[in-house]
Amino acid sequence: MHETTSDRDDDGPPGGALARARALLDEARRVLVLTGAGVSAASGMPTFRGEDGLWKDRRPEELATPEAFARDPRAVWEWYGWRRRMARECDPNPAHLWIARWCVSHPDVTLVTQNVDSLHRRALESVAPDAAAVERASPVELHGDLFRVRCAGCGRRAPHEAEVDATSRETLPRCQRCGELLRPDVVWFGESLEAEMLEAAFAAAERAEACLVVGTSAVVQPAASLATTAAGAGAAVVEINPETTPASRVAEVSLRADAARAVPALLRPLLEGDGGSGGSGAEGA
Ligand code: OAD
Repeated sequence: MHETTSDRDDDGPPGGALARARALLDEARRVLVLTGAGVSAASGMPTFRGEDGLWKDRRPEELATPEAFARDPRAVWEWYGWRRRMARECDPNPAHLWIARWCVSHPDVTLVTQNVDSLHRRALESVAPDAAAVERASPVELHGDLFRVRCAGCGRRAPHEAEVDATSRETLPRCQRCGELLRPDVVWFGESLEAEMLEAAFAAAERAEACLVVGTSAVVQPAASLATTAAGAGAAVVEINPETTPASRVAEVSLRADAARAVPALLRPLLEGDGGSGGSGAEGA
C-alpha cells in the first residue's frame, strides 16, 4: 500500500501517513537514511534543480567538471568559495539535528548524503556526547565535502576551512607537497564516486529494513539507485519531499512536506520512546 500526503499546513504532515511512516521506521532495526539538497533548504542552502536551484542559470559543465577546472580554475574556485561562505553562514536545521540524534542513539542507522555542505556533520558534532560518537555516526558523504581539498596533481586530500582568494590563478591554494593547484574535494560530473563510500552505501541499502529518503530529486546516479536497491531488498521506503520524485514509486509512504518540519515530527517520538503513536507536533530542534 502506498500512502501519500499532499497537505502543507503549518502543523507538518497529516497524522495518518505520518503515524504509518513512524511505525515502519520503528519496526525496522537497520535503516538507511538518504538525503539530498532539500534537507538543507530550511537552513538557507539552495537546491540544485527547480525554480531557485543552482543549475537554473548556471551550466554544470562550466563549474563542476574536471575540464572546467583545467580551463578556468579561478572561476571554479570563485563559485565554490561562494558556496563555502554560504554553507558557513547557515546552521543545521531540525531535520539535520534529529537525524543526527537518531544516528548517535541507533548504531544500525546509516546516513548517506549527497550534500557537500557539512551541515549533517555539524549537527552531529552538536548532539554527540564525544568525538568517538561523532566518528561512529559519521555520514557517508557520497559527493564529497566543500571544506576539504584534493590536489589536482598528486591527489592528496586535506581539510580546508580558510577563505580561498580567487582573484587570480596565482592566489589559488596549492599543494604543499607537489605545488599543483588544490581543488575542492567534491565529485564532479564525469567523475567516479569513491569506491569505498559507494560500497558502504550500497551495503547499507542491501541490508536495510527501512529506508528514509529526504529532500532529493533522486535523479543523479548512483545515489538515486540506493532507494530502489533498498526497496528491492525488502526495505520499507519512506520519502519526505514536497514534490513527487522517482523514489516516490518505491515509497510505501510519501510525506509531501518540508524536511525541517517532517523529520522532527517523525523521529522525535521514536527517540523519546513514544514509537508508533500518533501526534503531528512538528516544531523545531
Ligand atoms: P536537487 O536540487 O536535485 O533536489 C532537491 C530536492 O529537494 C527536490 O526534489 C525538492 O523537491 C526537494 N526539496 C526542496 N525543498 C525541500 C524541503 N524544504 N524539504 C524537503 N525537500 C525539499 O538536489 P539533490 O537531489 O541533492 O551533485 O541533487 C543531487 C545531486 O545533483 C547533488 O548532490 C549535486 C547535484 O548536481 C553533485 O554536485 C555531484
